[in-house]
Amino acid sequence: MKRIKVIYPGSFDPPTNGHLDLIERGSELFDELIVAVLGNPEKDPLFSVADRRKMLEAMTTEFGNVTVDTFDGLTVDYALRVGASAVLRGIRAISDYEYELQMALMNRKLQPGLETVFMIPSEQYSYLSSRLVREIAQLGGSVDSLVPSLVLQKLHEKMDVAHKFANAEAQDREASERTTSERMTPDRTERKAKPRKGKS
Ligand code: PNS
Repeated sequence: MKRIKVIYPGSFDPPTNGHLDLIERGSELFDELIVAVLGNPEKDPLFSVADRRKMLEAMTTEFGNVTVDTFDGLTVDYALRVGASAVLRGIRAISDYEYELQMALMNRKLQPGLETVFMIPSEQYSYLSSRLVREIAQLGGSVDSLVPSLVLQKLHEKMDVAHKFANAEAQDREASERTTSERMTPDRTERKAKPRKGKS
C-alpha cells in the first residue's frame, strides 16, 4: 500500500498551539509528516532556525510519525528531495485562503505532481498567529494559553534578555546625557574663582 508522506513547511517563529494542533491532525491522517522550518524567511526573526527546530522537536516527541527538519530554497524542491507527495498547510479563516491558494497554485505550476492539502485547526486557534504572539510577548502581554509551555519559557528568556539590554542602554544614555549637561554647566566654585576684569 502507498504510504503518504507530507511536509508541513512554515516559519514557525515561534511555533504556536495552532501549529501543534495541525501537526496532531496531520499525523493522524498521513503516514509520515515532516515539519519543515524555512531557513531564510524573515530578515530579522525572533528565534534562530536552530531554536525553532529544537522547540518543534520537543513539542512533537509524542508523535511517532512526525519529524522536524530545516530547509532553504523552494518548498517544491525540498518536497521532491525528501520524497513527499503533498504539502500540508493550515487555513484558519477565509483571510488565509487567498494567499494559500496563490501559493498552492504556484507550487503546482512549479511541480505539477505535488499536491497541497489544507487542514483547518481547532476554532480556538483561528485568530492565533506567530506574528501576534511575537508582538504581544514583546509588548509584555500574556501569551500563556497560545503557545506550548516550552515555547513560553523560551519567549520569557528572550524577553528578559531584551529587557536587560534595553535597561542597560537606557542607563548608558542617561549617564552620557548627565556627563554632557555637566560639561555644559560649569559649577559655581569655578565661576567664583575667576578674577573679575577691572576690579583688581
Ligand atoms: O509560516 P509561513 O511564513 O506562512 O510559511 C510560508 C512558507 C515557508 C510556506 C513559504 O514562504 C514558502 O514556501 N517559502 C519557501 C520559498 C518558496 O517556495 N517560495 C515560493 C512559494 S509559492
